[in-house]
Amino acid sequence: MKRYISYIYVILLFALVSCGREATKMVYNEGLHIVPEPASLEQKDGTFVLDGETCLTVNDERLAPVSEYFKSKIERSTGFQLGDQSKSRKISLQLDESLSFDEEEYELTVTPEGVTVAGKTPQAVFYGMQTVMQLLPAEIESEKQVDTVVWEMPCVVVKDKPAYGYRGMMLDVCRHFHDVEFVKKQLDIMAMFKMNRFHWHLTDDHLWTIEIKKYPRLTEVGSVRHNADGTVHKGFYTQEQIKEVVAYAKERFIEVIPELELPGHALAALTAYPNFSCTGGPFSVRNKWGVEKDVYCPGNEDTFRFLEDVIEEIIPLFPGKYFHIGGDECPKDRWKKCPKCQKRIREEGLKDEHELQSYFVHRIESILLRHGKRLIGWDEILEGGLAPSAVVMSWRGEKGGIKAASMGHDVIMTPSDWLYIDFGQGAVEVEPVLINFTTLLSKTYSYNPRSEAIPDEFKKHILGAQCNMWTEYSVSPELTEYLLYPRMLATAELTWTPFEKKNFDSFVKRMFNQLVRLDEHHINYHIPIPEGPKADYLVILQEDTLSFTNSLNLPMVFTRDGSVPTAESTSYESPLLVKDNETIRIASVLPSGKMSKVRTIEVVKGNLISAENVEAKPGVAVQRAEGTFYYIKDLDNAKWGEKQIVADFVNKGKVDLEDKGAYCYTGYFSVPEDGVYYLSTEMDELQVDGKVVLSNDGKLVRHTHNRTSLALQKGYHSFRLLFINNNIGGYPRIWNNPGFVISQKSEDFHQPDNLSH
Ligand code: ACM
Ligand code: ZN
Repeated sequence: MKRYISYIYVILLFALVSCGREATKMVYNEGLHIVPEPASLEQKDGTFVLDGETCLTVNDERLAPVSEYFKSKIERSTGFQLGDQSKSRKISLQLDESLSFDEEEYELTVTPEGVTVAGKTPQAVFYGMQTVMQLLPAEIESEKQVDTVVWEMPCVVVKDKPAYGYRGMMLDVCRHFHDVEFVKKQLDIMAMFKMNRFHWHLTDDHLWTIEIKKYPRLTEVGSVRHNADGTVHKGFYTQEQIKEVVAYAKERFIEVIPELELPGHALAALTAYPNFSCTGGPFSVRNKWGVEKDVYCPGNEDTFRFLEDVIEEIIPLFPGKYFHIGGDECPKDRWKKCPKCQKRIREEGLKDEHELQSYFVHRIESILLRHGKRLIGWDEILEGGLAPSAVVMSWRGEKGGIKAASMGHDVIMTPSDWLYIDFGQGAVEVEPVLINFTTLLSKTYSYNPRSEAIPDEFKKHILGAQCNMWTEYSVSPELTEYLLYPRMLATAELTWTPFEKKNFDSFVKRMFNQLVRLDEHHINYHIPIPEGPKADYLVILQEDTLSFTNSLNLPMVFTRDGSVPTAESTSYESPLLVKDNETIRIASVLPSGKMSKVRTIEVVKGNLISAENVEAKPGVAVQRAEGTFYYIKDLDNAKWGEKQIVADFVNKGKVDLEDKGAYCYTGYFSVPEDGVYYLSTEMDELQVDGKVVLSNDGKLVRHTHNRTSLALQKGYHSFRLLFINNNIGGYPRIWNNPGFVISQKSEDFHQPDNLSH
């Protein structure tokens, strides 16, 4: 009998679990979830079922590639071969040049009997079919046949066209190289969301990534970076690979825009060909991030001959109309001292080095115009006079874009506060170390490319917008995807859907279904991680409560028994009371059941660390050790110099960038009352009261989330802080914030009080 009951129990449990799974699946495929939201969509009664009896027909041969593209995708996931013979149900693609539609505008009608997609161009019909795919269950994107889904879609009438003609994504492949397969994978996703411009940042100080046959050293030398830690980073695309990517993009109606950075951000090229610089070099491919002072020399005619040759090799590879010439962040230091540049300024009657930059861009513009290309440049190209046909890409906020549009120039908006998606997308304590914080999905989504500050008659000059994926901190394809998604989907919607129609809550609901499609493409997208507690090592004195949130208000699940949480673990409903030592593991859960990274919080019941009875004198002590150090262990035999007393840690500002020495700060800080304090540092190691409490040994630490907590008695506590001046991950420690910071429970971090020795 007992055994019988257990059987029933097991069966019931199984039914509950599988029911849960079914229910979850229903949630993400339930309803309409098209991204970007169409301009107009009307749901009708009934559904259309796609099955082995469905055919896909075209009325014009020019639609054959579109038809083949979708046939092969649909066959892969459904197993159905959609022939073009009339079967019982039909998906009909119609090209009709007589329609009074825009180029990318389509109309889609789904009835129980059939599906019709009509447009004036194959591109428009392609977008209509992307909408059809999104009306089908998310598993339609599967690379393998799925037999458990009914391929049913709701009846609708969709009339749709984009708000902007330029809907882009930029990828920087110079800071960290990304291979052809990676690029193609992202093009697949861009196409699903009707994005149509891929801006490929191919050259910079840190790598040159495109084969130029006339100048082989560009890739032999310029495509290899020797990092400060002795590792090598390299990569470039052959011209054959470039053609392959461009053709792949074209099949998906995406124009690939090459970026050749000039006059600045050119050190990889100048390392290969130093004669085109002002000083003649020698140089090495830059291995620290930031802006390089050595740039192309416009006083030298050979520089222009070289650039013209390079442009003439690049142009045939990219049949689109745009060519990006960079133009940003070009320091004028070398030009000011270069006799050739100064001669050029005099001879051309230029006012200053800004006008020399403008002269440079004008000359490049004339080469491009001869080849029928339109120049795009970052907003610095406004300085010193804008080339007449230039399109301005506004990145330093919207100011440059607003100014250029109001002067009648075309503009692409990509202001960093909204559209730099290399920034973090959650609280510092849970996200990876990144170049900047924080651009939440909601912030990116909220962006309106047509700023109110542009007079109405000039708003038409805003061609569109683009999200920018810079890769200084993005060391792997997985991390790049984590940053790209889902903010790239928000970019797709803000460039396609009319601003008045956008709604973030609606977007998020639709996005949940799209994330399942991204799963089918093995995209490592971001899922918000539970935030709240400032550190993962939490000291408590008495009982305390821990509150968690996440940036999309997703349900969260947790365990307190050391096990790894699953989607079925206890739901987080209210703050957790903690009284003693324990480990809490918590994660957010998507409607699909997929979970975020698990956050592990160690709660430690601690005693107050006694304050020290010291006679505090203002200033902290600092000692330097001469030598080349990298890791804490390298300091074992360091010979520390004389102690000096300095006002505070800002003293490190006197340290030279190239100085590889180590610094040891010692002294005391005070806390105003007994309690728990949180600490963080961007230096190498922090000891408090004789114990190592934070270590960043060998880690990239700018904007670190390495935090800890301590229970401190009111009064003075001793510290020892180590700072090794070396370059880790392209980021010299000297650029980091000095010292260490402290915070009480709900306050912001700040430098500790009463630094003394
Ligand atoms: C840029 O971020 N320097 C365009
Ligand atoms: Zn010069």
